[in-house]
Amino acid sequence: MNVKIREGRDSDYPYLEEIERLCFPDSGRTREQLEQRVFSNPGPYFIVAEVDGRVVGYEMGYEVKGKLYNCYKAVHPDFQRKGIGKLLLDQQLEIARERGYKYVFIKTSNQAPGMLILALKNGFKIIGYKDREWDDEPAIWLEKEVE
Ligand SMILES: CC(C)(COP(=O)(O)OP(=O)(O)OC[C@H]1O[C@@H](n2cnc3c(N)ncnc32)[C@H](O)[C@@H]1OP(=O)(O)O)[C@@H](O)C(=O)NCCC(=O)NCCS
Repeated sequence: MNVKIREGRDSDYPYLEEIERLCFPDSGRTREQLEQRVFSNPGPYFIVAEVDGRVVGYEMGYEVKGKLYNCYKAVHPDFQRKGIGKLLLDQQLEIARERGYKYVFIKTSNQAPGMLILALKNGFKIIGYKDREWDDEPAIWLEKEVE
């Protein structure tokens, strides 16, 4: 399988909305929600994973307290466990390196155990825990130093 990681563009949003609906049936975000959150913050980034011209995963984020924060990420269920989440994570690190950040940062929860395992396997360290990060949902905070 040939996976291309590239910068996201306007025409990618219908794919993102489908991936959101499939990955988060109760809380899938729309283009407006994704854009409003990410692009109203400093240092936004938006990358996608493409297979045969089809967007099958994406990652978005921005700068938080001097770190590059991955705010949204999802891979189409048919394409999970094929290394795409890791490729996106590697690209987050590359963007952080190019921009001169010392750390990348993520938050994850009980809803996303795969994300927690992926992060730990790739050298992220747990730096915090918040009881009610998203309504009643707790979150684990992790970061990784950019080498
Ligand atoms: C979390 C997510 C982005 C991971 O993407 P992915 O493309 O499936 O991840 P990868 O294939 O790169 O996984 C690399 C490694 O991470 C670990 N991993 C990833 N998902 C896992 C899961 N669901 N359960 C256990 N381990 C997992 C595995 O060790 C995996 O390697 P392996 O498949 O050789 O065992 C994807 O599962 C997803 O979109 N989930 C739904 C949305 C979501 O939870 N987003 C994150 C919100 S914080």
